[in-house]
Amino acid sequence: MKLPVLSWILCVLALIGLLAWLGSDVVPLTKDKAGREQGKALIGGDFTLVDGAGKTVTEQDFRGKYMLVYFGFTHCPDICPTSLLLIQNALNKLNGKGKKVVPVFITLDPERDTPEAVGQYVAHFGPTMVGLSGTRAQIDAVAAAYKVYHRKAEVEDSAMGYVIDHSGFMYLMGPDGAYITPFPHTISEQSLTDGLAAAIK
Ligand code: NI
Repeated sequence: MKLPVLSWILCVLALIGLLAWLGSDVVPLTKDKAGREQGKALIGGDFTLVDGAGKTVTEQDFRGKYMLVYFGFTHCPDICPTSLLLIQNALNKLNGKGKKVVPVFITLDPERDTPEAVGQYVAHFGPTMVGLSGTRAQIDAVAAAYKVYHRKAEVEDSAMGYVIDHSGFMYLMGPDGAYITPFPHTISEQSLTDGLAAAIK
């Protein structure tokens, strides 16, 4: 009789172990001392890209400032320019707090969007907006780090040739580089302004 009981206990222990192991991948949104939700730290991280002046920049160059990161491509007919305008308008409304935030636009189309082209593009939206490009490998790496969906889609009978289907979230990153919160591109200007005001210390 003892052996089956022991087997049963071992079975339960194994199951507990398995659940703990499975659970370790599903990180609960517990807050650390700084109030950050640790489970969200899976977005963002180091990157190496090139700015409009041809200078190599990394995530470290933004430390001490908030980043509001948006991914897209300069040939985007509607969503990207609308989103960048929205970002710039919200930051303008925030005045002092807005100055703590660097809006960062990262292209998902480095074949057409040279660093210089991205730099010129973002200058249309605001003087502090930073436009970044890089090699295909660098872009794929940063897009993966931010969990950005992107896919090249051919457009027939169009001079444009192709577009990039992409997800449209703005990611607010803290002065320490930690992920704070996303905002959908469909958000209203007022909601974005309020959301940023609440998140920025
Ligand atoms: Ni777009």
